[in-house]
Order: sequence, then C-alpha cells, then structure tokens
Amino acid sequence: MHHRLTILGIESSCDDTAAAIISHAPGEAARVHASVIFGQAALHGRYGGVVPEIAARAHAEALDYCTEECLEKAGTSLNGIDAIAVTAGPGLIGGLMSGVAFAKGLAAGSAKPLLGINHLAGHALTPRFTHGVQFPYLALLASGGHCQFLVARGPNDFLRLGGTIDDAPGEAFDKSARLLGLEQPGGPSIERVAAGGDPKRFRFPRPLRGRQGCNMSFSGLKTALLRTATSQAGDEGKIPGQAVADISASFQYTVADILAEKTEAAFRMFEQATGKLPGPFAVTGGVAANMTIRRKLEGVCDANDVAFVAPHPKYCTDNGAMIAWAGLERFRLGLFDDMTLGARPRWPLDTVSPPLSGSGKKGAKS
Ligand code: KG4
Ligand code: ZN
Repeated sequence: MHHRLTILGIESSCDDTAAAIISHAPGEAARVHASVIFGQAALHGRYGGVVPEIAARAHAEALDYCTEECLEKAGTSLNGIDAIAVTAGPGLIGGLMSGVAFAKGLAAGSAKPLLGINHLAGHALTPRFTHGVQFPYLALLASGGHCQFLVARGPNDFLRLGGTIDDAPGEAFDKSARLLGLEQPGGPSIERVAAGGDPKRFRFPRPLRGRQGCNMSFSGLKTALLRTATSQAGDEGKIPGQAVADISASFQYTVADILAEKTEAAFRMFEQATGKLPGPFAVTGGVAANMTIRRKLEGVCDANDVAFVAPHPKYCTDNGAMIAWAGLERFRLGLFDDMTLGARPRWPLDTVSPPLSGSGKKGAKS
C-alpha cells in the first residue's frame, strides 16, 4: 500500500478521552493534523485516584464531543478518513467498552474499516511517528500501569526482555504524591516540587539492584517514602515544605536510578539476542515525560554510544495520536477488525514470554 493514509485514533482506556488524526505517506514524516484530549483529572481529584465508574460515564459523555472537535481542528470530516482506530485494551473495562462501541458506530455509519489497538502498542510505537524510528529498536514503556523493556520488531511483534514484578513507576509516583499531600496525577506534581529539593537528602531502597536481567520493583519505594514522610511530620502531622521537596527529589532520583541501571542491563540482553547494541533506545509512556528521568537515561545511552529517542511529553502521556499511528501501521499490514471487536481489559503485548509474577496487574491501569 503506497499511498497516503489518514487515520482517526480514539483512546478511552483510563482517565483521558482523546482523539487524533494522523496521516502518513511512505518516505515522508508522519503528520498529526489534530490531537484533542478531554482529561478527567478534575473529576477524580477529590477521590485521590481514578474511579472506574466515574471514568466510564465521563468517557461515554465526552467521546463524541472530543471526536467532533478533533475533526473540526483537522479541517476534515469522516469522509476524509481512511479508517477508525480505537483502543480495545488493556485498561478499565467501562472506558474501553464506551470507546469500542463508539468507534464501531462511526465505522458502521461511515463504512470505514475498524482497527482495534492495544494501548501498550500505541505507547511502544510512538517513536515511529515522532522520530521515524526503524525496527528493530529497544523501548522502555513506563506508565501508570506498566513498565517493560521491549524489543519492537514490527507493529505487531514485541519481545519483552523484562519488566516490573510489582508496581509500575507511574503508580509509585501517584501513590507517593498522595502520601505527600500533592495532587494527582502524581508524576507531574512530584516533578514540579522536586525542582526545589535535594535529591541526595534521603536514601530510598533500590530492590533487585545488581540482580541479573532487567526486571524491576517499585512497591518498596512507597513504604520507605511513607516512613520518611512520617519521620519528617511535625506535631500536627504536617510535613514542612522543604522536606516535601527533598523527599520528592530523592524519590524521583531513585526511580531514575533504578530505570538507568536496568536500561544498562536491557542493552546487554538486547546485544545477546541480536548481536548488537540497540539503535536506538526509546522511552515511552507517561513516566517518560519526566525530564530528570529522560536526562538520566540519555546519559546511559551516551555512555554506551546508543542513540536516545524521547517523544515530546505530550505524546508520552495518553493521547489519541499514538492510537491513530498504531492503527495506521495495522492498516498497512491489513490487520483489520470487524463488528465482533470487543474490549480486552487484559491484553499483554508479548504473548509468548511468561507473565511476570505480580507484574503490577492490580491497579486501575493494568
Ligand atoms: O501513559 P499514561 O498517561 O497512562 C497509562 O497508560 O498509564 O501514564 C500515566 C502515568 C501516571 O502515573 C502519571 O503520574 C505518570 O504517568 N506521569 C509522570 C509524569 N507525567 C505523567 N511521572 C513522572 N513524571 C512526569 N512528568
Ligand atoms: Zn498509557
């Protein structure tokens, strides 16, 4: 298929309703014509986390407005679209069902093909449309529900080298922010506060350090952080602002350090599997929006002479463009879906490697 493709992508697997339109012609850079996000942070804020029922209802309400705005911004209509891509999993069942039903309606009404997308593939393939990265490459997908090192060999072909055996790093950011009284989502809050803190003031544990392979563990971090926060709290239980900043900075530093050590290990594993170092190494997922983490991983790449790719932060956190792009890649492979497409709350990317024990599959974003 050698002509330009234009795909509408729809995302509703967690707490962002998103729609985007991407087009691409072989040999050219991809173009994002519009990317619209209706976030739900305000709806969930007072509950300290994403409430699935509230999320599902909000998606059902927002999907058509969001898509309409996206088409308008791109200056097109469904007639100008070649296919409709929608996140079919993994994620929260309610939001997924809303999105899939909505996309099916659009596809049926406009007689356009339907493409069911794995949300994780959307994250992992993002460096392909932002930086034109070629297969195979090594990707670290670090988000609110997942953390894995993947060898991306094709749009539908991923090998997991390792991942978290418990919490995802984004989950650790979110829980830690809650303990410190910072607002959700925790990642951006902690990054903001950490800018005025001392990353060396507190030492947090680095589980699985020095262990073979590139598996990671983050669940011990929040316990350690709770202990530190409690020790710093005054008589009324209030933690002084500087302590909050120092704890945030130390926590962020530790997550960056864990990811950096395991990135080195993943490089060695990639080398063993393919006979060469990865070219390039790409970071994706919401946690990859963190500048301290990006700089640290860039340093690991520099030291190993590996090219480093980090998509713009707006394409690291959940968005519709990554779903549209993954749809575009599936379209070129002829991997279409039909009206039997269903929501898959659990849907591993690498279906061959055995699941990691625990593997963080408890949270909202599992
Ligand atoms: O990819 P994403 O938007 O949704 C999932 O698929 O999970 O990732 C959301 C996660 C949240 O846990 C959020 O706190 C974290 O990514 N995050 C960050 C930053 N921005 C978002 N973590 C650290 N630093 C950030 N700047
Ligand atoms: Zn995501």
